[in-house]
Amino acid sequence: VCYDPAVLSAGHKRRRAPRTVRSLNALPDSLHDVLSSLGDAVIVTDVADRIVMFNQAAEELTGLAEAQVIQRLCTEVFAATPTIGAMLQRTRAVGQNQSCGEETLRVAKRSVPVRLSCSPIWGRDHVQGAALIIQDLSYQKKLEDEARRNETLARLGGLVAGLAHEVKNPLGGIKGAAQLLAKRFAHQPEVGEYTGVMIREIDRLSRLVEQLLTLGAPPAPPLDPVNVHKVIRDVLALMETERKGRKIALRLEIDPSLPDVRGDDAQLTHVFLNLVKNAIEAMPDGGMLTVITRMETDFHILRRAGSGKFLRVEIADTGSGFPPEEMERVFEPFFTTKARGTGLGLAICERIVAAHQGDIRADNRPAGGAVVTVTLPVSP
Ligand SMILES: Nc1ncnc2c1ncn2[C@@H]1O[C@H](COP(=O)(O)OP(=O)(O)O)[C@@H](O)[C@H]1O
Ligand SMILES: [Mg+2]
Repeated sequence: VCYDPAVLSAGHKRRRAPRTVRSLNALPDSLHDVLSSLGDAVIVTDVADRIVMFNQAAEELTGLAEAQVIQRLCTEVFAATPTIGAMLQRTRAVGQNQSCGEETLRVAKRSVPVRLSCSPIWGRDHVQGAALIIQDLSYQKKLEDEARRNETLARLGGLVAGLAHEVKNPLGGIKGAAQLLAKRFAHQPEVGEYTGVMIREIDRLSRLVEQLLTLGAPPAPPLDPVNVHKVIRDVLALMETERKGRKIALRLEIDPSLPDVRGDDAQLTHVFLNLVKNAIEAMPDGGMLTVITRMETDFHILRRAGSGKFLRVEIADTGSGFPPEEMERVFEPFFTTKARGTGLGLAICERIVAAHQGDIRADNRPAGGAVVTVTLPVSP
């Protein structure tokens, strides 16, 4: 064994590694197992950029099966992401690793933030292929977004919560006085009109203050078994008058045999109430509200969560959908596109769901309308 650093580094510089991969197609089973267990997508191409290996993570990321892409040109499969073709070409020409910090992978109408790296596979004296590694950054980005929002909240939270406390008590007094006025002048309907406005607006302010307090310090959820279906039924009952008033039909795809989730009844009611309210508000001229519950099968969420099982609830509507340019802002506190909105609904939902070790996602449906997906850990 040679420990001489000069010799070692000279050997390192000679990029023609002696570890020749002779036939890319004939991967030993053990290596194949290793590749399929990796979390990152690994795609191996031959000298003509044809795909010879496509691991399981690559299938999951692209939605394409290995059998569909094997022997096809990598540049063609990833035609919508030209960086990949350019990297493969450069890797072959220069014989060196190429990487790029952040790129948007476009596959099957989806855009995924990824990090790409591409390494040459050396034959005896020439590059005989390349290994492309695609790392999905969407979860990391989501965490970063959440962290940024939490930082802002932590900074504002104390101030806002203090202010909210100061506002809360006098509001109660003002409301009481307005109610007394209403009683005293019950014989004068025009006074009733004014006191009506006062009481309505005070109620609105009180709700805002409550929301600010929740956002400032969401109470830690007691992690009891909760029947999500009961929570959803309660929320739908609460909102029924409003829903029917707007001629919104209801479609339930609920599997009542699903297990309980771990959490707090009242807080989860708050989450689904906010989501159903948003859905109804998005359909002023009627439409369809859909609620779906089922076991979570999304591989990204399950892998992140380790071994536990998750239940998934989708609240979908046929309204205008989320504003597409502002998609990443909808969970921000105070982001609203409504004249009388507070922009706190989704921010509170996100906080509560995070405290439940769950996940919440907002998307637009291809057929139009919005869908919010909440994933919650199943009670052990
Ligand atoms: N179901 C939905 N369809 C379309 N847009 C939605 C939906 N839910 C939320 N949004 C968008 O997200 C924004 C933030 O929602 P939210 O935090 O609940 O605050 P608010 O409802 O007070 O505006 C809304 O103003 C709206 O632009
Ligand atoms: Mg709302």
